[in-house]
Amino acid sequence: MRTSPIQDFFGVVVHADEGATVADLAKDDIADLIKKHGTVLFSGFNASREQFDDVTDMVSDDYMNYRGGGYIRKEVAKKSLLSTRYDHGRSEQMTFGLPLHGEMYYTDARPKLLWFYCAKPADADGQTTACDGAEIYNQLPQKWKDLLQEKRLMFLRVYRDGEWQKIYQTEDSKDACKFAEGNGITVEFDEEERTMRTKYLVHAVLPSRWGEKMSYINNLLPVVMQMNMGRGDTSTVCFEDGSAIPEELMEDVKRIQEELTYDINWQPGDFALVDNTRALHGRRAFQDVDREVYLRMVRSIDF
Ligand SMILES: [Fe+2]
Repeated sequence: MRTSPIQDFFGVVVHADEGATVADLAKDDIADLIKKHGTVLFSGFNASREQFDDVTDMVSDDYMNYRGGGYIRKEVAKKSLLSTRYDHGRSEQMTFGLPLHGEMYYTDARPKLLWFYCAKPADADGQTTACDGAEIYNQLPQKWKDLLQEKRLMFLRVYRDGEWQKIYQTEDSKDACKFAEGNGITVEFDEEERTMRTKYLVHAVLPSRWGEKMSYINNLLPVVMQMNMGRGDTSTVCFEDGSAIPEELMEDVKRIQEELTYDINWQPGDFALVDNTRALHGRRAFQDVDREVYLRMVRSIDF
């Protein structure tokens, strides 16, 4: 198995040359690579979706669906294979770029690992992006490290009637509240308007699973993007004391990320594994609505 590093301390590509196939991949090798590198791209395997299923099952078959997620996301195939289309009640493919984020960092119920599978890349652009949250943390000015240690982020959401049912995948408000509260979310439910209001507090920097590194990993920038797109009445983020996140902090983060971001230039049948406790991911904007990239989220692993 030939591998080549992406950056000095982050990311590795596993190449399918010298006749290698997905059958040559072993769980222990994949575990070693993800622990060390934070993101692993499997390039040139031209894997079918069934072969992709076999590889992900080998690592862990404890998959999560998107219950309580930020968007309404469809399960498109067995084993919780999710469309990465931005399905917020829309039927058409959303093609805008998504800023770097950790997956589901607005709930305790977040995946440990993320698998991406590319059935069809966009004819141009549309790369999945990956970035080392541990290195972002290293490069953050000390004043931001101190501030993010001191104050947690506060994510506030308002789900109107008809919406929380889709997000929480139930018609029963008690069931929705129970699920949210079981995952660290504070809920207020207005019985009359049937509106659900949620609050979630979380540090923007957290220890990663392997390597004792602190990582800058959170869902700050996608929510700021939503607020800038006019959804600030239903989705906001600020510090837990209600104060705003300083613009200067977000500019510093974006500047650091720009230097460090790796673009996955997909080929059909490529797939990638991301450590969701260390590496952020996102997406470049694109035009081609036939782009097909899928996501599978792993809840638990035994390594
Ligand atoms: Fe994501």
